[in-house]
Amino acid sequence: MLTDYDASFSRVMDLQNIEVLLVGDSAGMVIQGHDSTLPVTLDAMVYHTSCVARVCRRAFLMADLPFMTYPDPHTALASAKRLLQEGGAHAVKLEASAAQAEIVTALSERGIPVCAHLGLTPQSVHKLGGYKVQGRGQEAATQMLETAQRLQNAGADLLLLECVPVALSKRITQQLTIPVVGIGAGPDTDAQVLVMQDLLGITPGRAPKFSRNFLEGVSSIAQAISAFRDAVKSGKFPGPEHGFE
Ligand code: KIV
Repeated sequence: MLTDYDASFSRVMDLQNIEVLLVGDSAGMVIQGHDSTLPVTLDAMVYHTSCVARVCRRAFLMADLPFMTYPDPHTALASAKRLLQEGGAHAVKLEASAAQAEIVTALSERGIPVCAHLGLTPQSVHKLGGYKVQGRGQEAATQMLETAQRLQNAGADLLLLECVPVALSKRITQQLTIPVVGIGAGPDTDAQVLVMQDLLGITPGRAPKFSRNFLEGVSSIAQAISAFRDAVKSGKFPGPEHGFE
């Protein structure tokens, strides 16, 4: 899985057999230049999703429900409707906690595939006190494990773990029956996602510990994307240096 926000990159990713394209609300930072995902609107997500959907032929297309567009089941359904109907998404992702279980159920019961995002949930950055690894310590780990199980029971089709200790994401992946995608969550999840700009090494400032510049040593963006795909499939990425204790 890779994040993707426009038609040109979608074509390349689709041709390189990236299986899931995620129109992430990371667009707020990497496309719009904000310092968080909080300013991203539903209109913007619909716009980016439609740009991707127009040319995406093979990949499964997932789009983020942005900040405060799913505070209750009714609003979540209306927001998801726009991402699927106007944007052309196949599934939605939401940043979850146990409190979101009823929202996941409402979407799932209406036939909308849902990915629940746990761990570092950037829409809660101010509550979390920064972009920090989540689930460290026994209590936090047990709580995340229980929440993951609860969201699966509520109807989530996919779980995404961001910045979670390697051992905990392994336990969660083993415990759940739905696929688990990781970013900064070690090598043991069922799939991996990166933000495209991190993969291309064009993120301003210090690159996140969990990413790798796949453009290094190759001569095109297509080659960088296929190198990422191959490294994930062969278990070479992420390595121990990309994970958190
Ligand atoms: O918005 C985003 O890009 C994400 C990443 C963590 C994959 O959710």
